Amino acid sequence: MKMLVVGGGGREHALAWRLAQSPKVQQVFVAPGNGGTALDARLHNVALTDVPSLADFAQAAGIGLTVVGPEAPLALGIVDAFRARGLRIVGPTQAAARLESSKAFAKAFMQRHGIPTARHATFSDAAAAHAHVDQHGAPIVVKADGLAAGKGVVVAMTTAEAHEAIDFMLLDNKLGVVHNAEGARVVIEEFLVGEEASFIVLTDGKSVLPLASSQDHKRLLDGDQGPNTGGMGAYSPAPVVTPNVHAKVMHEIILPTIAGMAKDGAPFTGFLYAGLMIDAEGRPKTVEFNARLGDPEAEVILMRLKSDLADVLLHAASGTLDQVELHWDRRAALGVVMAAHGYPLEPRKGDVIEGLPAPRDAADADTMVFHAGTARDADGRIVTSGGRVLCVTALGESVKVAQQRAYEALRPIHFDGAQWRTDIGHRAIKSR
Ligand code: AMP
Ligand code: GLY
Repeated sequence: MKMLVVGGGGREHALAWRLAQSPKVQQVFVAPGNGGTALDARLHNVALTDVPSLADFAQAAGIGLTVVGPEAPLALGIVDAFRARGLRIVGPTQAAARLESSKAFAKAFMQRHGIPTARHATFSDAAAAHAHVDQHGAPIVVKADGLAAGKGVVVAMTTAEAHEAIDFMLLDNKLGVVHNAEGARVVIEEFLVGEEASFIVLTDGKSVLPLASSQDHKRLLDGDQGPNTGGMGAYSPAPVVTPNVHAKVMHEIILPTIAGMAKDGAPFTGFLYAGLMIDAEGRPKTVEFNARLGDPEAEVILMRLKSDLADVLLHAASGTLDQVELHWDRRAALGVVMAAHGYPLEPRKGDVIEGLPAPRDAADADTMVFHAGTARDADGRIVTSGGRVLCVTALGESVKVAQQRAYEALRPIHFDGAQWRTDIGHRAIKSR
């Protein structure tokens, strides 16, 4: 079978790498892909991004299954478009993807279905939003309603920061948020205290398969300081997700969400990602939903996946996920993101990357350099072409060993202005 992976980040490199290892898979196309998928002889980049062209390509090339990585094509309705043409695809419909594409929708949904989350209010009027902040004080969290590539959230420790964020999001739109039909809106919510974890499941709308737990690091700098980013590194498993927490998340958050979406007439299919805050008593609350795999969570999760990914995804797309069991490497995985100069605000492109290892295909590779914002230039060199450039990922008997291996694998890699954190995994290592 021929497969198509839509997207061009580290998550899509990891998906394509795993799919290519399946005996069921003849060819893997990646649209648009990146420098890493271009280097790998078993993967084929296709320079397409818009939904109608992707559907035309899938039809003409005889693609048996498409899997969508990023949120943007999901929010544009790629799943609806493919299904309308009888093409098999893994992902949520446009209506279901609103769990991610509209924070206001997601919050109202959770309230309606009794799913634990932070208290909130939604505003389109800046004066009312400012008044709300004055009334509640800080710390408080201000979120743009719309897709903002992981950057539309300000955790304000002072009311001054919260006021600034409101103007920034409602009046200036400096973040380039893609507004929903309702226009510019902000969601202001209660500040939650605890430890974060990413809980991702795969569902066909009826059966739900939880993936291995994971945790990313959203802040740019060591010690979880600096601005929010798309994610500077991740590890799996996340020790904070104990069996008890796991059961609570499934029963209080995931299963009610899948059931609620079906009941509301927008059944959710594909990867559902719940960003959680787990308090000191082990009670989880939902910080956000994403309608896709996380990035860089996907890299560490797929590094640990032992089941045939193509087989699993085929069942997910065919509504037969109840016939599948997932098997995981018992080892931990940890990935360190190398980001471009200027990330997250103004990432520089075109820096030459040196010291990359040769592409690996072995299913048992215990280190992998997944590419994200890279491209192959006219001279065949690999250069930076986006904010997050590489995700250097390793397996180890513990999070600590995986961390040592990942940083060892990172050492020979060089590009001008590279930024990376030196403490990925610190919570999992320190506290246990
Ligand atoms: P989001 O895009 O909603 O996941 O928010 C990005 C990050 O902001 C989260 O991973 C948290 O670290 C932080 N955050 C978001 N909402 C809250 C909240 N209500 N309380 C505390 N931190 C939050
Ligand atoms: N790493 C968080 C995300 O993918 O949104």
